[in-house]
Amino acid sequence: MPEHPVESVNRGNLDRLLAKVSEDRGLDLAQYRPRYVERRVAVRLSALGLHTYRQYASYLDAHPEEYAVLLDTLTINVTQFFRDPTVYAVFRDKVIPTLIATKTAKKQHLLRAWSAGCSTGEEPYSLAMSMLDGVRRAKAEGMLLSVTGTDIDRNALAVAKRGEYPIAQLAHIPVMDKHLYLDIEGDAFRMKPEVMKAVRFQYLNLFEDAPIHGVDVVFCRNVFIYFNHEEQERMVRSFWNGLSRGGFMVLGRSERLAPVFARQFEMVDAKERVYRKPIDLR
Ligand SMILES: C[S@@+](CC[C@H](N)C(=O)[O-])C[C@H]1O[C@@H](n2cnc3c(N)ncnc32)[C@H](O)[C@@H]1O
Repeated sequence: MPEHPVESVNRGNLDRLLAKVSEDRGLDLAQYRPRYVERRVAVRLSALGLHTYRQYASYLDAHPEEYAVLLDTLTINVTQFFRDPTVYAVFRDKVIPTLIATKTAKKQHLLRAWSAGCSTGEEPYSLAMSMLDGVRRAKAEGMLLSVTGTDIDRNALAVAKRGEYPIAQLAHIPVMDKHLYLDIEGDAFRMKPEVMKAVRFQYLNLFEDAPIHGVDVVFCRNVFIYFNHEEQERMVRSFWNGLSRGGFMVLGRSERLAPVFARQFEMVDAKERVYRKPIDLR
């Protein structure tokens, strides 16, 4: 029997399925090539014994955990050092100096960051390098730094804890940071002890577990897609509770803060999705 190429099989309207995914999870798959998405969704249809996009849409409704599988199939759980460099520019030039100045004025000596949904560790290490740099630039050497990376993927956490990455990933790290914070060994590089000392990892399920309390900044980027709108709001509320007054929250590029939070968070940078919990709470 001749094999049908996936494209020629009439599964119905893919756009309608994509609109549903976007509505339910805020996940905009338009950034991917349609043929690619079509092929990846076809893998899920055949694994589940389904034939049409409409059946798959109903399956997603009945089994919301399928979203996680779909995201994995699209390999959306990828990460990168200094992902979206313009966000890190705002973090270095605005967020860190503001936090250091506030801490110094209050004679506080601990700056704490949380990378929620840290995957294999690139984000928390990028935060630690940026914070070490900020402390150096502000000549605030007495400031202690702590970055906690959390995730539900234990394999990803095991990679993160090693602090060692293939040399190909070096390209994403700013030159100065490369010199100051990394040791290159053959075809891999490691974080220097100074960075390793500042970062720790732990299992934390954002659906169920309490937030980390007393943090000055939380990065939760490219994680919203795993949650529906209600769960996203619950998660943001828990970040608000975990943040110290004047603390910052940074979301992913395509992630929006729901309008209900307009009074709880001040907008710091709309484009980079940087928000702040007010210092004065009324
Ligand atoms: C796309 S990665 C984002 C990594 C990093 N924040 C970034 O932007 O590059 C999403 C991560 O969220 C994690 N995740 C998904 N659901 C989670 C949950 N309920 N609690 C904690 N982490 C979760 C996944 O395991 C994955 O490592």
